[in-house]
Amino acid sequence: SQNIYILAIESSCDDTAASVMLNGRILSNVVANQKIHEEYGGVVPELASRAHQQNIVPVVQQALKKAGVEKSQLNAIAFTRGPGLMGSLLVGTSFAKSLAYGLNIPLIDVNHMQAHILAHFIDEEDFNKPEFPFLAMTISGGHTQIVKVSNYFDMEVIGETIDDAVGEAYDKSGKILGLGYPAGPEIDKRAQQGNPKAFKFTKPKVDGLNFSFSGLKTAILYFIQKETKANPNFIEENLNDICASIQYTIIGILIDKLKLASKETGIKHIAIGGGVSANSGIRKALKDGEKKFGWTTYIPKFEYTTDNAAMIAIVGHLKFLEGEFSQNNVVASARLKL
Ligand code: KG4
Ligand code: ZN
Repeated sequence: SQNIYILAIESSCDDTAASVMLNGRILSNVVANQKIHEEYGGVVPELASRAHQQNIVPVVQQALKKAGVEKSQLNAIAFTRGPGLMGSLLVGTSFAKSLAYGLNIPLIDVNHMQAHILAHFIDEEDFNKPEFPFLAMTISGGHTQIVKVSNYFDMEVIGETIDDAVGEAYDKSGKILGLGYPAGPEIDKRAQQGNPKAFKFTKPKVDGLNFSFSGLKTAILYFIQKETKANPNFIEENLNDICASIQYTIIGILIDKLKLASKETGIKHIAIGGGVSANSGIRKALKDGEKKFGWTTYIPKFEYTTDNAAMIAIVGHLKFLEGEFSQNNVVASARLKL
């Protein structure tokens, strides 16, 4: 059978990424993080777009070189069409389009959220792929969704956030505590050294399988304002406990909804994806769910959790097999739905 080489490009937010895949296996996976946003405490769209323009050629060249693959060997170019920041998406879309046109090979547009889920189907040693149907919880700086996955391209969003994403809850809490951006990894690290029951934050009341995180952020802000009025050193003296308590609350919210989703659908195969799935608390809670609730859980390799192009490549590969190629007039779509 024919070898299928896919070059994939991801540029939806603040990471410029490229990956080369051969028959579902990753040959290279290159990500250029944009440090520029750290000093602003969040992603600045114009700066992101400009950095993508600078990074995209070297990142693609590096991905090809690492893979030991020539452009002439490629069978298709896959790219992130959306959702994401329009200026960022445009850079990847235009680049992918012109490259595919120049090489006279098909172009494959990919939905970023679908890619976070299908990352579980990248061919790897020692990694079990999920069985259909399964529930996928995508948790990142931009999204919080529970998706019922019946097949590769048969997905239904059964719950999502009505305001902030869970990664935003981490990053905004970190900002209140004076931590750098993004704060998720540091809160996670400190949480492991603190007491999760030191402080209590109430969980939001949201019906069904939807989430809400903006109230939690406000509760943390008021709590910190009140405590630092009484003791100006409150944060420094209690930082690990505060982080542990925030993490305990957030993980509780996520697991409550997963339990409900599993009960309502009768599905016990559960996968996570997106930047927050790197979190030690959610990984542990999921593993505990195997014993407590009879779940089978799927946790992606660390390099496939945060934004990357390997996950775009696997969707490109699966679509290639189906003959699902883009039209010449395909455009970036900031609010692309699953
Ligand atoms: O998927 P991702 O790289 O980009 C988006 O599509 O948003 O996710 C980035 C988010 C950030 O909010 C970051 O704080 C969070 O993932 N994050 C974490 C951890 N590692 C990254 N949150 C909690 N614990 C972590 N270990
Ligand atoms: Zn993402």
